[in-house]
Order: sequence, then structure tokens, then C-alpha cells
Amino acid sequence: MRPLFIAGNWKMNPTTEADAVSLAEAVKEGVGQDHAVRVAVCPPSVFLHRLDTVLSNSPIGLGGQNMHPEPSGAYTGELSAGMLVDVGCTHVILGHSERRHGLGETDAFVNKKLLAALKAGLIPIVCIGETLEEREQGQTEAVVGDQLDGSLAGLDGDQMAGVVLAYEPVWAIGTGRTATPEQAQQVHAFIRSRLSERFSEAIASRVVIQYGGSVKPENARDLLARPDIDGALVGGASLKAADFLGIVEAAR
Ligand code: G3P
Repeated sequence: MRPLFIAGNWKMNPTTEADAVSLAEAVKEGVGQDHAVRVAVCPPSVFLHRLDTVLSNSPIGLGGQNMHPEPSGAYTGELSAGMLVDVGCTHVILGHSERRHGLGETDAFVNKKLLAALKAGLIPIVCIGETLEEREQGQTEAVVGDQLDGSLAGLDGDQMAGVVLAYEPVWAIGTGRTATPEQAQQVHAFIRSRLSERFSEAIASRVVIQYGGSVKPENARDLLARPDIDGALVGGASLKAADFLGIVEAAR
């Protein structure tokens, strides 16, 4: 049985350290020392060091939202896996659709980041998902399959077992239009079968596959009840402690 894993992707929010600390403290208070559900928060990078202190005696993981594959160098505005580890991160989101579609990140670049994150000991959360146009054209499995093949290139089974995947249909992100549990389960099952083919059934059964895209306390339980949905990557609802904790509660 894979432990359910709920992660909050705060994106470019909140806008002050004080608000970030307040949000983290509220989530920390709600989670307490309960390890029944894996929980992580991924704040803007400028708040990571401070929130590492806030979460220091909590089971809540701390994650970055991106990283550069190189360890250091002339990469203006970037940060490395080692820097994330140095400020206390345990996780890192990679290949979010807002970077794939908004900033042109390719599967190959995501793959370089993934290999560097694993080398640094971070738990990667690798995002994949189709656009509405691709879904309407019946291309969902082709698109998601290609993203898996490209993003996971060069990984061995043991490395794959430590990677978290997040299926985030682009058309559900920030839209309030959540995939139905049936739609999400269908793609999650496809992902699991692809991992079985590529690695083994044993490895595939160990991989945590989160769903992301307008997850709310009201819809979380039905989504998380599906056999191949192992958690959620939460955007907007992670910015309200009560909503995020409601989703964590639904995972219990
Ligand atoms: O990474 C999670 C995010 O893309 C989902 O956003 O606001 O639809 O929960 P949201």
C-alpha cells in the first residue's frame, strides 16, 4: 500500500515572508506529528530558508518548485539541487506545465533536472499532463506517454521507485474544472502500466502518482479513493491552511 502524499505547490504566493510563515505555521499546527499521510509544502524559493526553520520539528517536507540541472555557474536567476538541499529542502517539483508550456521546458531538460535532483538526494515530483486540445483530439495517452519516456530517460528501477509523479491535466489547473475521478484514474492506470512495461510491476507498484488540477476539500476524497491515485499536488487550495488541511484529512 503506497502512503498517500499531499503536496502544496504555492507557486508565486504568498507575496511576503510573514504571510508565508503564517501559512506554514497553520499547516504545521494542523498536521502535528501525524505521519499517516505524507505532506509537503513547496513555497517560493525566497522563503525556503525561513520555512525550513518553521518546519524544523515537523514531518512536513519542504520542496522547491524548480531547479537547474547544473550544480553552479553562469545561470542567471537559477538555483541548483545543492542549494535546495542546503536550505533544507527534501523535495522539488520538476516539469510543471506552467514551465513546460509557459517557459518551453522540454522533456530532455526535465530529465536532466531529474537526474541532478536524484543525485542530490531530493525527492522529485515530476509533472506530466495533456492540454485540453490534446485530450479532445484523443492524444492524452500519447502525450503523457511521451512525457514519461522523455522525462524518465536513463533512470534505473531503484531510482524510479523514489520518484513521485504528478498527473496534472493542463485544462484542470487553476480552472476549477477538476478531472472526474474516472478520468484521473484512467490516466493514472495508464501511467502505472507504462511504468510496469518500462521497469517492472514491482517498481510500478511502489511509485507514488499524485493527481493535480483543481483539487479541493470537496472533491479530494473521491479522487483519492481511486486505486492508482496516491495523493494530490495542490495549487490554489494549498494557500488556505483550512482547505489544504481538509485535503490532508480526506487522505487519511
Ligand atoms: O502543481 C499543482 C497545481 O498546478 C494545481 O493547481 O490551483 O488547480 O490546484 P490548482
